[in-house]
Amino acid sequence: MGQDVSEALIEAAAVPEDVLVSLDLEIGDERFAVLALRRGEALQVWHNVCPHAGRRLDYAPGKFLMHGGRLVCAAHGAQFSLDDGACVDGPGRGGRLAPLEVSRSANGWAVRQAAS
Ligand code: FES
Repeated sequence: MGQDVSEALIEAAAVPEDVLVSLDLEIGDERFAVLALRRGEALQVWHNVCPHAGRRLDYAPGKFLMHGGRLVCAAHGAQFSLDDGACVDGPGRGGRLAPLEVSRSANGWAVRQAAS
């Protein structure tokens, strides 16, 4: 059985527990830069796009600034909770990272674009 083209698969080996990782996903004809964080069986995936001015959040692919457990946008310093993606300080405060839909699959997690 082939993979559904409307979703991408993230294998467990690609997302070590409690480590924020940067991945490129292909869903259908589109490629997305995303952030992924696994905690136990739960995987959160967000677009790697800051809601303040649309820049990537890492300062180099997969390299993140952190402050007190929060993700800090490398462009202008907005700070994000990794519990829910909310921007809790800095420019863009009150905004939030855009999540993708995630469901458990046999080999990892299936990721789809969130319904808008
Ligand atoms: S683009 Fe992230 S804080 Fe400005």
